[in-house]
Amino acid sequence: TLLGLDLGTTGVKAALFAVEDGHVVADAFYEYPLFHPHPGWAEQNPQDWWQATLAAIRSCLEKAEKQGVKPADVKGLGLSGQMHGVVLLDEADQVLRPCIIWADQRSEAQCQWMTERVGASKLIEYVSNPALTGFTAPKLLWVRDNEPALFARARTLLLPKDYIRYLLTGVKAMEISDAAGTCLLDVKHGVWSQEVLKAIELDPAILPPVVPADAASGSINAEVAHLTGLPVGVPVAGGGADNACGAVGNGVVVPGLALVSVGTSGIVLSYAETPQVDTSGPVPRVHTFNHAAPDAWYLMGVTQGAGLSMRWLRDNIGLPERALERWTGGDAYDYLAQEAAGVPAGSEGLIFLPYLQGERTPHLDAYARGGWIGLTASHDRRHLIRSVMEGVAFSLKDCFSIIQEQGLRLEQVRATGGGAKSPLWRQIIADILGVELVVTNASEGPAFGAALLAGVAAGVYPSVQVACEKTVRVLEKTEPDQNVASAYQQAYETYRALYPALKPIIS
Ligand code: XUL
Repeated sequence: TLLGLDLGTTGVKAALFAVEDGHVVADAFYEYPLFHPHPGWAEQNPQDWWQATLAAIRSCLEKAEKQGVKPADVKGLGLSGQMHGVVLLDEADQVLRPCIIWADQRSEAQCQWMTERVGASKLIEYVSNPALTGFTAPKLLWVRDNEPALFARARTLLLPKDYIRYLLTGVKAMEISDAAGTCLLDVKHGVWSQEVLKAIELDPAILPPVVPADAASGSINAEVAHLTGLPVGVPVAGGGADNACGAVGNGVVVPGLALVSVGTSGIVLSYAETPQVDTSGPVPRVHTFNHAAPDAWYLMGVTQGAGLSMRWLRDNIGLPERALERWTGGDAYDYLAQEAAGVPAGSEGLIFLPYLQGERTPHLDAYARGGWIGLTASHDRRHLIRSVMEGVAFSLKDCFSIIQEQGLRLEQVRATGGGAKSPLWRQIIADILGVELVVTNASEGPAFGAALLAGVAAGVYPSVQVACEKTVRVLEKTEPDQNVASAYQQAYETYRALYPALKPIIS
C-alpha cells in the first residue's frame, strides 16, 4: 500500500491506497483551527498541523489493520498540502511564529516593493509569475518589515507540507511544485532565482534545497515510527503542492487534460508541456508553476473563496435547526444543496461575488470584497445558497476563460475537491463553464496524487504517467444543460460588470 497525506486548510487527511488499482484501503481526517487576527489575515499553528497529522496517520493505520492490512505493508508516503504558507524556523529548528497561510492578504505593500525592486517584466522573466499577496515571498518580506527581531532569528523557510516532512524525516527541503509558488523559484529551470534573491536582498541561506516530487527525499525516523506505528525507514517522496497532487490523482499529467477543483479555494488548471506565461493582459492573471510530474508545468487560475464561501454561509447564515434535525440526506452541505435545488438557474436575479478573501484570478486584488447584489423581498434562503454556488462557478469561469485563451489543448476537464462532490454544484459548474465535467476515482483528493508520487519514489511504478494509467479511472460525467445556458450567460454578464463598477466605492 501507499500512504498519502494532504495538509489542507481545514484539516489533514491521511489515506492508504492499494498499489494495484489505487482503491482506498482506509482514511482519516482531522481538523485544525484557522485564525483571522485581523480582516484579511489568515494564520495557522504548525503544532496543530503536526498533532492532527500524527492522529490522522495513527487512525488510518488502525482502520487498515482492522481490514488485515499491516503498517509493514506501507511501501511509501507522499506529502501534499496547501501552498505558499510561510513557516520560519530558528537556529534550533523551532517554529518562530504562526504560519501566514496562502489566504492571507496583508502583504500588498511588499508585493509593490518587490515588483519595483526586481522590475515588473524582469520578475516574470525570472520566476514566471508576478508578486501576489497569495505567494510566499511577499509574506516573508512582511515578516522582515514588521517583525525584524524575529526575522533576524529565522534560519530556514519551509512551506506547510515541507515542515511536516522535516518532522517526519529530519530533512529540510522544498519540493519543486510547491517551491514554484514562492515567487523565488526560476520556474523554467527549477532552481532558486539568484537574480530575485539579490534584488530583494534575501540571504539564499534561508532557502532549503529544492527536491523532485517523485523521488524519495528522506524516510520515516524512529521517533515518528514510535508515535504513529509506521515502520522506520518508509521512504517519504517529495510529494507536491495540493493542486499539483490533485492533478496527478486525477490523471492530469498529459497534454489535453484540465482540472477544476473546489476546495477552500477554487482552481482551474491545465497541463502544459512548456513553462508558458499568460500574456493576455499587462500582468499574468493565471500562474505558471512546475508540475509534480517531471519536466512539466501547469497554468492555473485561482479563486480565493470557493468552498470558503459555502463554509461561511453554513456557519453564519445558519440552518433551520429543526429542519436539519429531521434531515437524513447527508451533512449540512447536502441540506443546503437540496434547498438550492428548489430555485431556478440564475437565482432569479440574485448575484453573489465570492471575494471574501480578496481575489486572485482575474482581478489580482487583495482588497476585492464579496457581497450579494440584486436582493429583493421575494428572494429567500434558497436563493442565497444557490447564488453562492453560482457566484463561485462564475469566478471559476473567469479562470477557465483565461486558460482557454492560452492556446493549450483542452480536451477534457476533470472535477475534484469537496465542493465538486455535490451533484448540484457540479451541474452548476458544468452549465456555467459550458463543458462536460468528468469525475474520477480520486475521491480522496490530493492525498491520492501524493500516494502515487510515493509509489514512483518507492519504485512501485516506473513513472507518474504509468502510475496514473494503472490507477485513475473515469467514473462519471456531468453534461452541460443547454436549456439553462442563456439564463447563466445573462447572469454572468451582470457578474462580470459588478467588480469594476464596485471597485471605486469599495476598495
Ligand atoms: C494556489 C492556492 C490555493 C492553495 C489551497 O495558488 O493558493 O489553491 O494551494 O490549499
